[in-house]
Amino acid sequence: MYDYADIEQYRYRPTTTTTTTTAAISMCFLLFIPPPAKYGGRHTVTLIPGDGIGPELLNHVREVFRFSCVPVDFEVVHVNSALETDDDMNNAITAIRRNGVALKGNIETKHTLPASVKSRNNVLRTSLDLYANVMHCQSLPGVQTRHKNIDIMIIRENTEGEYSSLEHESVSGVVESLKIITRNNSLRIAEYAFQLARDKGRRRVTAVHKANIMKLGDGLFLQCCKEVASGYPDITFDSMIVDNTTMQLVSKPQQFDVMVMPNLYGNVVSNVCAGLVGGPGLVPGANYGRDYAVFETATRNTGKSIAGRNIANPTALLLASCMMLDHLELNDHATSIRNAVLTTMNETRLHTADIGGQGTTLEVVQSIMRIIQSKGQLTSEF
Ligand code: NAI
Repeated sequence: MYDYADIEQYRYRPTTTTTTTTAAISMCFLLFIPPPAKYGGRHTVTLIPGDGIGPELLNHVREVFRFSCVPVDFEVVHVNSALETDDDMNNAITAIRRNGVALKGNIETKHTLPASVKSRNNVLRTSLDLYANVMHCQSLPGVQTRHKNIDIMIIRENTEGEYSSLEHESVSGVVESLKIITRNNSLRIAEYAFQLARDKGRRRVTAVHKANIMKLGDGLFLQCCKEVASGYPDITFDSMIVDNTTMQLVSKPQQFDVMVMPNLYGNVVSNVCAGLVGGPGLVPGANYGRDYAVFETATRNTGKSIAGRNIANPTALLLASCMMLDHLELNDHATSIRNAVLTTMNETRLHTADIGGQGTTLEVVQSIMRIIQSKGQLTSEF
């Protein structure tokens, strides 16, 4: 049986307080995430449908939850990417602050809108201080890919770096885009990566950077990783320049274990890794901060061109919902749905078009529900 048991165990729960003196400041950010809202034995989770395939796939998640009698109620909050006002976003952020947890589709970011209109996804992450993006990229059963046996955990700094949205045209034709690297954030993301590596029994952490060119910014990030590494003598630390990293990934991805990196490199590396194991429809992602957690697909695409056609792969969002269930400590439900998703992946005839098949989204979801039912679990009606 394929061992996929710990894919969603991403929530950072420090088991030790070991740290370096210089990294001590970061530990105050690594406190236990408070329990999410739970009333009358049921959890309330904010659900942001997003754009493109987000709404239809999240409807499937809700249907699987209903069928599986999962004790989760969704508070649906719509965010309209076409609006230039912040009202929708403020509602969504308030709802997540209230519930503690969210599941979301990606919200489109139209690059044609004025520079003053920031990415809604980015605003959400920074407002809630979701500083760690975590993605576990693992070769999946039944999915044909060029490379086998990939098992990489990517820890991406999620709130600063190149995503500061601080840009200005100093003189006509000359634009400055600021990349922000802070010592505090670099220390806490490095601490997160090393602690996760230790908790998961991983052996190596690789910091990805471009400190040969960005000597101050990426240099600071790398220095912070080195400082934190000194507190983890049981874990090998190394570093790699980002351009070489992408080449190594497509040549020999099995060499990587845990990777930690600034924001934009994290986005590029995440997408490369998702591609290596089969594409954006397969890999879940999580955003963690001290107080809140938001789950979504790892590559955060909207899939607008395939929306409403019943062909999108529901796997990534279903696995993201399982990560969320683990976060809510509804582990039995998480395991049941995850196992059904992975069993369905073994059925080549049900593969959706993105992984070379002709199956529809609905066929995949119905197969998942049949498998859940076949295991004798309490279910509702189809
Ligand atoms: P996209 O949405 O066009 O997706 C890329 C490819 O992956 C497409 O061929 C799509 O059909 C396929 N795909 C994605 N999910 C799939 C699924 N579940 N099943 C089957 N195929 C799937 O990607 P693009 O053009 O990069 O982004 C579109 C929008 O998403 C833009 O508005 C962009 O701003 C936003 N976006 C935002 C990000 C963020 O974190 N702020 C990150 C990435 C995209």
